[in-house]
Amino acid sequence: MRFEEFIGRCRTEWPEFTDHQSLEKSRNPTGRELAEVLDKVPGMATENKLKLLNLAVAALEPDEVYVEVGCYKGATLVGAALGNLNHRLFACDNFSQFDGAADSLRATLSRYTPPGQVQFFDMEFRKFMEMAPWQPARIGAYFYDGGHSFADQYDGLRCALPHFSPDAVIVIDDTNKRAARAADQLMAHQVPGWELILNLRTPRNHHPTWWNGIQVYRYRRSAGAVPGDLGGPGFAVRKFIYDDIFLNLKHRRRALRRDLKAWWRGR
Ligand SMILES: C[S@@+](CC[C@H](N)C(=O)[O-])C[C@H]1O[C@@H](n2cnc3c(N)ncnc32)[C@H](O)[C@@H]1O
Repeated sequence: MRFEEFIGRCRTEWPEFTDHQSLEKSRNPTGRELAEVLDKVPGMATENKLKLLNLAVAALEPDEVYVEVGCYKGATLVGAALGNLNHRLFACDNFSQFDGAADSLRATLSRYTPPGQVQFFDMEFRKFMEMAPWQPARIGAYFYDGGHSFADQYDGLRCALPHFSPDAVIVIDDTNKRAARAADQLMAHQVPGWELILNLRTPRNHHPTWWNGIQVYRYRRSAGAVPGDLGGPGFAVRKFIYDDIFLNLKHRRRALRRDLKAWWRGR
């Protein structure tokens, strides 16, 4: 990844790029050509996000690819691909969260991307990473927008790590969520070479600026070897707190609310 070029283009698109407080409030980049993607493709994304991904793809080296986890109906994938005809994109989704997205995604890709530019895999991301269909190319730009449990967020990085090119950009969505930030932070703490470039929060989910928060990391392999025992007690303790306690409680609360509503309707 031509990192300096990527940052240079970001500065052109968002003149306030180095002032993170202003950038957090930015509604759109200077170039508005991706705005219409979101008019045509329903997505959990904003114009800013699409432009950031698009610029990351534009700065890929010839032997690098863009990889995305979590496509839904394809808004971010199309946003990343448009105008980047020389670069290949690989993506997966197991459609575990929303009904009816698979057909929409296929229709979107065939309508807005040329054959062969984007390869989509209907599968769980851990299997996708194991398969690594982009090989022998490496991942120069990675976008994780999959499940948001702590284990998913952490594995989304851990499984992709061996495939990153020597200099890669990693964009993680929905980092308003504590579990997402905790997973990123643990990875950055455990693996040499992770540098936090952007940490943008939003007042709420679905916000027109950066949706539900976004983090951008740079990973440079030359900083040191990846420890063989990634995860370990640091992972286990956080997974227990974020997933086994908090996420579990959230699911139980939702189930209780559902049952109460059903009971109320059936009275
Ligand atoms: C927030 S949506 C992605 C939004 C999308 N990037 C867009 O442009 O609108 C999250 C997606 O991640 C997928 N997902 C969740 N867990 C997954 C997993 N373990 N493996 C693959 N995909 C997963 C869901 O099916 C869902 O479509």
